[in-house]
Amino acid sequence: MPDDVLEVTGLHRAYGHVRAVDDVSFTLREGGSLGIVGESGSGKTTTARIIVGLERADAGQVLVQGRDRTGAARGRAQRLARAREVQMVFQDPYLSLDPRTSVEAVLRETLRLHFPGADHTRRVRELLDQVGLGTRAADALPRQLSGGQRQRVAIARALAVEPAVLVLDEAVAALDVSVQAQILNLLADIREQTAIGYLFITHDLGVVRCVTDDVIVMRHGGIVEAGPTASVLAAPEHPYTRLLLESVPRPGWDPDRIAAARRALR
Ligand SMILES: Nc1ncnc2c1ncn2[C@@H]1O[C@H](COP(=O)(O)OP(=O)(O)OP(=O)(O)O)[C@@H](O)[C@H]1O
Ligand SMILES: [Mg+2]
Repeated sequence: MPDDVLEVTGLHRAYGHVRAVDDVSFTLREGGSLGIVGESGSGKTTTARIIVGLERADAGQVLVQGRDRTGAARGRAQRLARAREVQMVFQDPYLSLDPRTSVEAVLRETLRLHFPGADHTRRVRELLDQVGLGTRAADALPRQLSGGQRQRVAIARALAVEPAVLVLDEAVAALDVSVQAQILNLLADIREQTAIGYLFITHDLGVVRCVTDDVIVMRHGGIVEAGPTASVLAAPEHPYTRLLLESVPRPGWDPDRIAAARRALR
C-alpha cells in the first residue's frame, strides 16, 4: 500500500458568515488521483488554495509527506520548499503566463529559482518532451500557442519542481472536448511515470470518471460523500450526489428525475 502523500484534517475557512470550507478531511495516496466535485461555491477552490498555501485556514491541518504546511511559511527557503511539494494548475494558464516570456524562458526561470547553479538545458528539453511539446514550441510566446498548448506549458512548469502533489483546478474546463481528452491522457501518462498524486477539481463527472480513483463530493463547504469513484458514480448514497449525476445531460436524460432529486435534497 503506498503511503499517504497528502493528509487534510478538519479544515475550516469562513469569509464573514459564509463557511467556505467546513470541516474537510481526506487523504491522497502517493501516485493516487482524488477528485473533488460539487456545485459552484461549494468550497473546492478554497480547499485547494489552502492546500497550496495561497489561502490560510482558520483551523485544521495540511500535511504533505508528513510535513505540516498549515502555518505561514517562515522565510524564502521554506516558501520555496513548500512550492516544491505542491504545485497547482489553473483553468486559464494565460493568466499565469507572462505574455513576453517564451516557453523555454518560463521553464528556465522556474528551474533557476528552485535549482540554482545547474545547467538546465537538458531538463528543459525533457520537460517539453514529457508534455508533448516539440522543441519548436520552446521559442513561442503564450499568445502564439493554442489553449491546449498553453495548458501543457503550465503542466511542464509545475512538473519542473518535481512536486509530490499536483492540484488541478478545472484544468481542462476551458478546452474543447477533443483537446480535453488529449490533456487528460497526458496527465494519466505523467501520473504513471512519476507517481505524483493528483487532486482533481472539476464540475465534470465525466472527467472524474476518467481520471480519478477516489472522489469526494462537496456541498456548502462540507463533504457529503466520499469513496472509490466507480462505486460513488454507480451507486451514489447521498441525494446531492444523485442530483449532480442527474444534472449531466446524456441519452435518456430525464428532467423529472432531476426535479425528484432536487426535492429529495430539501
Ligand atoms: N476571497 C473570498 N472572499 C469572500 N468570499 C469568498 C472568497 N473566496 C471564496 N469565497 C466564498 O466561499 C465559497 C466557496 O467558494 P469556492 O471558490 O471555494 O467555491 P468553488 O467550489 O471553487 O466554486 P466554483 O465551482 O464556482 O469554482 C463561496 O460562497 C464563495 O463566494
Ligand atoms: Mg472553484
